[in-house]
Amino acid sequence: MAPIDLRSDTVTKPTEAMQEAMRHAELGDDGREGDPTVRKLEALAAQKVGKQAALYLPSGTMANLCSLLTHTGRGAEVLLERTAHIISYENSGISLLGGLFYRPIAGTRGAMDPTALEFAFESGLASKQLAPALVCMETTHNTAGGAVLALEHMASVQRVARAHGAGVHLDGARLFNAAVALGVDASRIAAYADSVCFCVSKGLSAPVGSLLCGSAAFIERARHFRRMLGGAMRQSGIVAAAGIVALECMIERLRDDHANARLLAEGFGQIDASLVDAAGIETNIVRVDISASGRSARQWVSDLAAEGVATSDYGRSQLRFVTHRHIGRVEVEQAVTAVRRVWERAVQPRARAAG
Ligand SMILES: Cc1ncc(COP(=O)(O)O)c(C=O)c1O
Repeated sequence: MAPIDLRSDTVTKPTEAMQEAMRHAELGDDGREGDPTVRKLEALAAQKVGKQAALYLPSGTMANLCSLLTHTGRGAEVLLERTAHIISYENSGISLLGGLFYRPIAGTRGAMDPTALEFAFESGLASKQLAPALVCMETTHNTAGGAVLALEHMASVQRVARAHGAGVHLDGARLFNAAVALGVDASRIAAYADSVCFCVSKGLSAPVGSLLCGSAAFIERARHFRRMLGGAMRQSGIVAAAGIVALECMIERLRDDHANARLLAEGFGQIDASLVDAAGIETNIVRVDISASGRSARQWVSDLAAEGVATSDYGRSQLRFVTHRHIGRVEVEQAVTAVRRVWERAVQPRARAAG
């Protein structure tokens, strides 16, 4: 039997409607005069997030890098919450390839501490007019377990950035999860940033691709950086076609993923309250703290694999479970049962020894 794959929402396969759209996509050369299906996806993306224009890129990592290069210049300072995906998982591309210096800002559940952000501006290179600065936010926040930034928080970060003449980029890889969780249009969230990128390849189920959105002038410049990075694809309409279906048909169903993540967390919470704070689950990511089991996260990953559940480890004591289109109630129950078995095997011998 195929394992229940809860490692990430990136494992989602294209839907039937996507495969049909891909078969019939009208194609052109996106590195030359343009691909009509890509153009259509870009226009739809821009409209969805309330920006003038959009650019299709192969990945969220490249969309972030392309955006940061477009906003800044070598030696610029980028201020990010200290556990941001750009810092933790994008292999230092902004420093190695972009010549950018990043300053991690303390935060809670992915939200930067406004005082620390102010201080960074006052003490950094930007305050001495040595380098321009850019502030990046992330919602939903991956490392913070799918936490959604409050709109008031985003507004205050934007205010501070503007007061210091800095631009704002939003890493919205899961922007539509945030929009569904807040019950607002994605454009309401994107309004707090000059540029925003989001992925169609995650919970929205398209096979590849991310969109960078911003003003027409910004996207015009970003197009040159995309080429520099090798992201100008050719008949990319073939995959962009699936992205169009993702934006037209797959947003509302993210609600199901969020409900399943809550069920999963509640199930884990019934095994042991130390495992998870079910009330903190806002979207489709569930972080589980297995430190009370006495086993390492890596050991848990292999024990759960033996039970037919694929998950990922974060540090020594955390696991991450991500719900998506291929995970329904049945899979949630099976995953909870698997975690219960591994938990009992880990904890009972210790309880016997103690007794
Ligand atoms: C918040 C965030 N930003 C960016 C990315 C990068 O996206 P990609 O895997 O398409 O490069 C991810 C991927 O999980 C993410 O979670």
